[in-house]
This record gives sequence, structure tokens and C-alpha cells, in this order.
Amino acid sequence: MKITTISILTLFAVTTMNAQNKAHLDKTKPIEERIDLLMKQMTLEEKVGQMNQYNGFWEVTGPAPKGGTAELKYEHLRKGWVGSMLTVRGVDQVRAVQKIAVEQTRLGIPLIIGFDVIHGYKTLSPIPLAEAASWDLAAIKKSAQVAAAEASASGINWTFGPMVDISREARWGRVMEGAGEDPFLGSKIAEARVKGFQGDSFGDLEKVNTIAACAKHFAAYGFSESGKEYNTVDIGNATLYNTVLPPFKAAKDAGVRTFMNSFNILNGIPATGNKFLQRDILKGKWNFNGYVITDWASIREMIIHGFAADGKEASQRAVEAGADMDMESHLYVAELVNLVKEGKVDVKLVDDAVRRILRVKFELGLFDNPFLYCDEKREKETVGSKANNDTVLDMAKKSIVLLKNEKNLLPLKKSGQKIALIGALAKDKTSPLGSWRIAAEDNSAVSVLEGMQQYKGNQLTYEKGADLTVGKTTFVDELVFNTTDKSGFEAAKKIASTADVVVMVLGEHGFQSGEGRSRTNLDLPGVQQELLEEIYKVNPNIVLVLNNGRPLALPWAAEKIPAIVEAWQLGTQTGNAVAQVLYGDYNPSGKLPMSFPRNVGQCPIYYNFHNTGRPTNSENNVFWSHYTDVEKTPQFPFGFGLSYTTFEYKNLKLDKSTYSKGEKVNVSVELTNTGYFDGKEVVQLYIRDVTASLSRPVKELKGFELVELKKGETKTIRFTLTENELGFFDNNGNYLVEPGTFKVFVGTNSDEVKETEFVLK
Ligand code: NOJ
Repeated sequence: MKITTISILTLFAVTTMNAQNKAHLDKTKPIEERIDLLMKQMTLEEKVGQMNQYNGFWEVTGPAPKGGTAELKYEHLRKGWVGSMLTVRGVDQVRAVQKIAVEQTRLGIPLIIGFDVIHGYKTLSPIPLAEAASWDLAAIKKSAQVAAAEASASGINWTFGPMVDISREARWGRVMEGAGEDPFLGSKIAEARVKGFQGDSFGDLEKVNTIAACAKHFAAYGFSESGKEYNTVDIGNATLYNTVLPPFKAAKDAGVRTFMNSFNILNGIPATGNKFLQRDILKGKWNFNGYVITDWASIREMIIHGFAADGKEASQRAVEAGADMDMESHLYVAELVNLVKEGKVDVKLVDDAVRRILRVKFELGLFDNPFLYCDEKREKETVGSKANNDTVLDMAKKSIVLLKNEKNLLPLKKSGQKIALIGALAKDKTSPLGSWRIAAEDNSAVSVLEGMQQYKGNQLTYEKGADLTVGKTTFVDELVFNTTDKSGFEAAKKIASTADVVVMVLGEHGFQSGEGRSRTNLDLPGVQQELLEEIYKVNPNIVLVLNNGRPLALPWAAEKIPAIVEAWQLGTQTGNAVAQVLYGDYNPSGKLPMSFPRNVGQCPIYYNFHNTGRPTNSENNVFWSHYTDVEKTPQFPFGFGLSYTTFEYKNLKLDKSTYSKGEKVNVSVELTNTGYFDGKEVVQLYIRDVTASLSRPVKELKGFELVELKKGETKTIRFTLTENELGFFDNNGNYLVEPGTFKVFVGTNSDEVKETEFVLK
């Protein structure tokens, strides 16, 4: 009986749709006019429907709300009460839901399909933090292009990326998703990722291999207190304007079509209900004309924050604040129509949100062909292609950071060596995929063991030594990391004792960072530290290959272990990338995008701090800014990374010593490759505004260049500083360039630099 009713209704809907005015489908008309034509036909319910996004029916990336059954979602889909779905993937799944939207609803408005394409779709690139370590903007852009090509070939139109949250908190699990601690590097990477996902000119329909991007999480999520997930954020305007917002602004300027707000409260106001952020800054000052999606159920969570009494009030606050689309709160669809009818919410707010959402759908070409992204042939050819694997392998090699290399233990000799490979992670084919890899199959990464087996000139033996995890390793389950089993130690010691070199792959499991994965320890989980120390006793010739989604604090290893390679979680091609670096077929050039602390008590630790009134101690008393039990400096500073060759910096010069306002400051430095290998170096330029109306950081990155030099070669590297680099935001968000003395530093990392200065009149 029920089915019959639905069928009759469906028939009625299709007939009615056919009777509608289809003028908005005329491609020759400008998009704004097409939106007007469509909106004139929409009921209030249909408008609110566009503002509603549901998760698909198979996978979840957050706590599923009560009552959010598949039955209800299908019913709402048929009524035209759903504007978007997330985590529906693959041409078959997408076509099925799109058909309902297009063929069974009154107006046939297509869905926009969103997905967390964070570091690739099925062919995975390194985690974003690792990619940031490459400082290679072209490679990062290309990696996002591959991700977009695979996702768009699988029916997806929109990624929830890039995450552009700056964070100084190694304890926060989501640092793996961002570009690290620095707003300048973060802004450049935000731009590269947006352009990679969307193409240089979004809306160019010849390019169906691009998708809409989403700058998230707006804003300040990366400043959650003590790095605890979803925690309170309480920061001042100086940090907000100068550190948090710049990468978002860069994403906006690069043309990003959507923003996602965030779970956190910012100075008492949940970001989702934050008018200042979403209306005043984003849609006001920055004139953003795309739309804002909420984070998962974040409208509903405003009730728990104590910012709204119930779902109705939460919806009112969110829509007033400028949140255009509701992800999985199920509240706009339940409350907004009544709120408008009761006169509590101005329909203009709904109209504005719907216009923004439709604009992006038109730009994506979804009205012209709702199945544009549903092409099985393209899906088959694109996903997992050889070319895509080549790109992510290249990205993976570029992401590796050489942290230590005493006695030139690396690169490994290619023959005549006995190599012992130890560590559960060395054989793991899932963990290297990292967090956020919903579309990738388990066990699909090339393991380090497999990568090293490609080099046949040496004798390679493997022992795991100890397990890393006990229990399930899935995206949604809490992992258990209490491994105490040391029964594998003896076998590992045995192969180590007779080896020329021991390669140990240790660190975090891929699901130990990411959303909901904050830690209070930054050590090697389980019994790995003990394993490392035991192996060291029998053979100190160790190359430690680290796998991690965040900075770790490993003071013992930093002191004792002769060679340390930071290999993060490098995605599908992990093992090949690691092996090629270890064997010297690729000379590493990565530089840390976050400071690595000596211990967790130093967190948050970052290079661009402000001086206290007592930054150093010249009198040997206790009254200065420090901890009494550890050095002030990080273990490895921001921007740090070695190469198999060496570089020398000379002749740092400015073209003048005094500049007038508006004049360009030309900086040059000579760089020589003084070692025995060809190599690449990331030349970094920092400034310090010595005296200003607000205290400025002791150093701020304002330029970098990835330079390739043959052995023995010298190049002159030039930078230009303009007002864009010399100024800062005051506490009201005004950009100021103030006269006075500026220091300029150029060097190989934030700590080792040459220095000069100039005066700005
Ligand atoms: C919650 C996360 O915070 C967000 O980044 C993600 O895009 C959504 N879930 C959807 O999976």
C-alpha cells in the first residue's frame, strides 16, 4: 500500500517537473540569471532542502544521529529535501542517488556529492603534513590534481579539503591533515591545493577531472587547548588575524568555492554560530560568494556547547551566522521552514544560502549534465592508473625528511651488505596509507619491506620485533595500543647482531593520528622504544625510519641513533619511496613543516614565537623564560632537513640599506652545493619587524625557494620583499606596514641563518 502511494507520488512529481519552466537549463544564460529562474519556482521546503546534506548509507565519518535512517534519507531525497550527500562514492552509488534527485523530485535539482578526499582518493599521496614537508608547491598541486581526477571519475564533485588549519600542537591528531605551524607556508600550500583540486579556472567544464574544494575548518580549530580534539579555543585577535586566518584568505583568493566551519568554540562562540567569522569576515570583508558547509552535526552540537536551547534555536543561530548547508545535524530540514513561517528567520537568509549552493552546482555543470561525473569507463581508466601511482611516488619521495646522518651511514651501499629490517610497520601495508583513506583498500600500500626487496644486491632479512597494535585498526574504532609483548625481541636481536646495517621502521600506526586521535605522549607507542634500545645494544649501526602523523619527541633516538629518516605516512607508494631514498636513488630534500619537541612538556613549541621580556639569561640567575629541566630549543626546528650533499650559504645582500614605503626590497644570497651528490635545498627567508605597535615574532617566514644544484655548483638566489610581506594585522584586522628596522634572515632552516637588516622609512 505504502509502495503504491510512493509510486503515485513519484509519477505525479515527474509529471509536475515536466510541467515546470526549464529556462534555467539554458546554458547560454548567465549563471546568476539561471539561479533567479530556478529560485522563482522553488517552494520554501525545496529551498531548505538545498541546505540539507546527508551522509550516505554505507560509511560514516562521525557519530550517526538517532533517527537518521536510510529510509528517512530516501524519503527526503524523493521530496527534494536533500541538496547534497557525502561519502557516497563510485559511479554506481552516485548515479543511484543522483537519479532520484534528478528524476523523481519536482524540480530535478541535482545533488552535489561531497567526500573527504584529503590526500588522494584511492591512489593515496602522503598525508598532507608530509606533503607540506616537500615545500614543493608544484608537486603538491599535482598531487591534488590526481586526487581530483580519481574522485571526479568516481562520481564525486566536491572534496572537504584542503584543511588549512595552522597548528602548533603536536598532541593534536589532526596536524596530519594540515600544512603545519606556519601561516606563510600554509597559505602557499592552501593555494596550491585549491588550484590542484579545482583547476586554475574553476567552472571550466572541459575539465571534468576537477572538483570543488573546501577550506576548512573555519576557524581556529588547530588551536584547541592542549591539542585535545574538539576542545575549546581561546585565542586573541593577534593570533587570529596573523596566524589562523591567512591560509583561509589565501584559499579564498585562489578561488576556493566552499568553506567548512568548525566544531570548536572560539572565545565562547561556536564557529558554526559565529557571525563575526562567517558573515563579517568571510562573506563581508572577503566577499566570498561560495557557500559554507557546517562540520558534521555541528549545528546540533551547539546545544551541547550551551549556546542554543534546542534544535530550533541552534538552526536559527547557525543560519543567522552564515552557515549555509547543514551536514548531518538533520536540523535545517526539520526547523528552518517553521522558523521562516513564524517570522523568526528572514527568508532572505535562506535565499542567500540557496543562491550560493546553486551557484556552485551550476559552475560544476551539474544542471547541464547531472551525470557528468558518472562515467564508468573513465572511472576504470583513471582510478589507480600507472600515471597516478607515478605522481604519488614522486610526491612521497619529496616528502621525506632526513633528520640525522652521522658517518654517512646513508645512503646504503647497494651490494655486499647484510641488512636487517626490523619493525611491524616495515611490513604493514595498511598503516602507511595514513588516516583519511576511506576509498583506499586495506593492504594496498607498498610496504617498506617490499620496497627494499627491489634492491637485490644485498642480503635482506626481516623480523617484526614487536607488534604495534592490539585489536582492530579501522577508521571509526578506538585503537588499543597497549602492546606489552616482547616475545619477538630475541629474533630481531639475532638478525641485527650479524647485520652491517639495521633499518628499523618504528612510529605510529596510520590511525593513531587524524580526527579524534589526540595523544598526551609523543613517544614511540607500545614497546618500540625498548625494542630500539635493545637492538642498539647489539648493533648501533641503525637507520631509524619514522612513521608518524605528527611531530614525535624522541630525545634518546636523536642522541644515539646515527641516521634518522622522517617518512611520515607516505601513502600507496610508501615502500618504494623509502627504499629509493635509503639507497640514494633519490636524494632527500624535505624540511619539517612543524617543530619537533624534545619532550611533550614543550608543546606547543613553534619557531615564530614572540620574545618575552626575559628571553635569554646573561647573568646566570633563574629569572628568565625557560624550563629548568630541558633546553629551550626544539629537537629539530621548523624548516630543518638534511640532504646527502651539503650546502653553503654566502654573501647575503640587500640592494639598499634604507627603503621608502612601497619600494621593493631585493635580497640575494649565494648557495653552493659543497658535497658529493647533486641535490635540492629549500632556501628559506625570514624577517623580523624589530619594533612595532604590536610585538612581532622573532622570525617570520616570508619566502622560500626550492633550488636544485649539481655538486660543486653555485647559484645566486633572489627574493623580493614587498608590503605584502612586511606588514601585519592589528587587533582590529587592519593591515599595517610600519616604518623602522627589519632584520632579514636567509638559511637552511629557521635556526641556522645568515642575517642582515634594513630600515623602512
Ligand atoms: C568531520 C571532520 O571534522 C571534517 O573535516 C570532515 O570533512 C567531516 N567530518 C566529514 O567527514
